[in-house]
Amino acid sequence: MSLHRLTSVTIGVPNVDETVTYYEEFGLTHHGDGSFSTADGGQQLRIASSSQRRLLEIGIGVDDPDDVDRIATQLDKLDLATKREGTSLVTEEPIAGFRATVSVSPHIEQASDPTPYNFPGRIEREGRAPGVLREGPVKPRKLGHVVIGSTDQEATQRFFTEGIGFKVSDRVPGLAAFMRCSTDHHNVLVQQAPVNFLHHTSWQVEDIDEIGRGATAMLENDPDRHVWGLGRHHVGSNFFWYLKDPAGNFSEYYSDIDCIVDDALWEPGVWEGAKGLYNWGPPPPPSFLAPEDLAGMMTGAHSS
Ligand SMILES: [Fe+2]
Repeated sequence: MSLHRLTSVTIGVPNVDETVTYYEEFGLTHHGDGSFSTADGGQQLRIASSSQRRLLEIGIGVDDPDDVDRIATQLDKLDLATKREGTSLVTEEPIAGFRATVSVSPHIEQASDPTPYNFPGRIEREGRAPGVLREGPVKPRKLGHVVIGSTDQEATQRFFTEGIGFKVSDRVPGLAAFMRCSTDHHNVLVQQAPVNFLHHTSWQVEDIDEIGRGATAMLENDPDRHVWGLGRHHVGSNFFWYLKDPAGNFSEYYSDIDCIVDDALWEPGVWEGAKGLYNWGPPPPPSFLAPEDLAGMMTGAHSS
């Protein structure tokens, strides 16, 4: 696959300082200038100033300059302007207006020893579980995916598929499609919405214990951050726990997402009803699907 990962995301918020503190507590490493690194993916988040919360930029990593040339041609067919800067290309998504930067980037190399779990009749682990022995803050390994609300889902989705070259992994008819630019089941999902907004960013952690430890620590500091979790998605299979940053953007800890290594062996599915959302866990609160600040953002969007 010539596209191989998300590189970074820039989130615009009105309350930069508070939001920066939140993502430090979330476990990302702050560089002091609003940019953050993950353990494995380098600089993957920037918090910038904006009159209302929104996605400002998303970065996609590719293998070589030929990929950047091909994507420029694809975007040109959609009548979208591009600007070349060395081995990078910058364009603007036509509906929500965020920048997308395509750049030649190194692959993320991840090494880990699988967490041993015991099973009925099968002892993989002697002694206490690693999950109860860990101490210290949870450190997300990489940026996994970004979910975007668009007033024209089809057009924003076309931007990612026909424009950039994302592949569709699964569909929820009339609502969204899960799209990938890596071997992970999804890196971007665009859902139909009454206003353009950032629904959530999702950050990979080691395993389900790290999801629980991370979310518990965040909620000890402020229980109002809770949105939805702990549960397991059906589409993509990942364990999840969603929290809310001080600007209203959701951030997800996830682990154990499906991977698609051979495109030929993957059959995209069509999911409807609850299965499109989750396999087990508490039911999603209404504010997960329609965040409480959507109406205010629509007013803000109309007045700006
Ligand atoms: Fe997610």
